[in-house]
Amino acid sequence: MTILEFRLGRRSSAAEMGKVMGLSQEQIQEFHRQGYVFLPQVFDAEEVAVLMREVPDIFAQDRKENVREKGSRAVRTTFAAHTFNQAFSRLGQHPRLIEPVMQLLDGPIYMHQFKVNAKAAFDGDVWQWHQDYGTWARDDLMPEPRAMNIALFLEDVTEFNGPLMFIPKSHKQGKLEAGHDLETTSYPLWTLDNDTVRRLVDEGGIVAPKGSAGSVLMFHCNLVHASPSNISPFGRTIVYLSLCHVDNHIRRFERPEWIAHRDFTPIEPLPDDCLKELSREAEHA
Ligand code: SIN
Ligand code: MN
Repeated sequence: MTILEFRLGRRSSAAEMGKVMGLSQEQIQEFHRQGYVFLPQVFDAEEVAVLMREVPDIFAQDRKENVREKGSRAVRTTFAAHTFNQAFSRLGQHPRLIEPVMQLLDGPIYMHQFKVNAKAAFDGDVWQWHQDYGTWARDDLMPEPRAMNIALFLEDVTEFNGPLMFIPKSHKQGKLEAGHDLETTSYPLWTLDNDTVRRLVDEGGIVAPKGSAGSVLMFHCNLVHASPSNISPFGRTIVYLSLCHVDNHIRRFERPEWIAHRDFTPIEPLPDDCLKELSREAEHA
């Protein structure tokens, strides 16, 4: 099934059939085999614009959720924008993001973390090699790797602007040994050592899924990933929803609640046109 069929299928028959439509069997198998699935052009230019037009104002705010790059005012990541911005709140309940993850995690899900990662032109710093579940398990006591990321590109991702790099199949390794890196960037991360990365890359290689704004990338929480710095003049804004099965909610509440959320209420998907509705409202305002 193509992504167009994925979207058309949702519109035409999901409501009629009264059940969740989403990933094909091939896409599900691909996710389990490789640890990720890339879905080009899931959101159109109008929907991307509704979100992108909010970003400069969010990044300009002096608020705790904005983490800036080391030695620069450039925003590295904004946490929890779904809690204080209407467009991102809608994205956090968007059926095209929520339903495929419910399908893969097999049940109700809640938002563990929500990030807008800027990777600013010239200033965007690296994300070292890591597994997200490494942090969620060690810092937040998330019981199982029954959680995952779904990312939406708000700008084109190319080989130049610091694309995400994955080691395919590395999600099958379980939670790997990691060290707590508090130095390299402005944000602490449980990172893997070079020997581990070399061994995994010998087995699985490296991929860097690239695509236009509106594309979506889903990846397993144990998939080893990283991204290089962005020395290009092109921004690389990506939104990440980290979603967790409600039964698997975190047990330790030491990180701030805007980094590791405590609201375990199952997410109810909104109608498919929830972002377009905002765009129409803006036109008529
Ligand atoms: C992450 O791994 O959480 C973010 C990586 C990136 O945005 O490049
Ligand atoms: Mn990560």
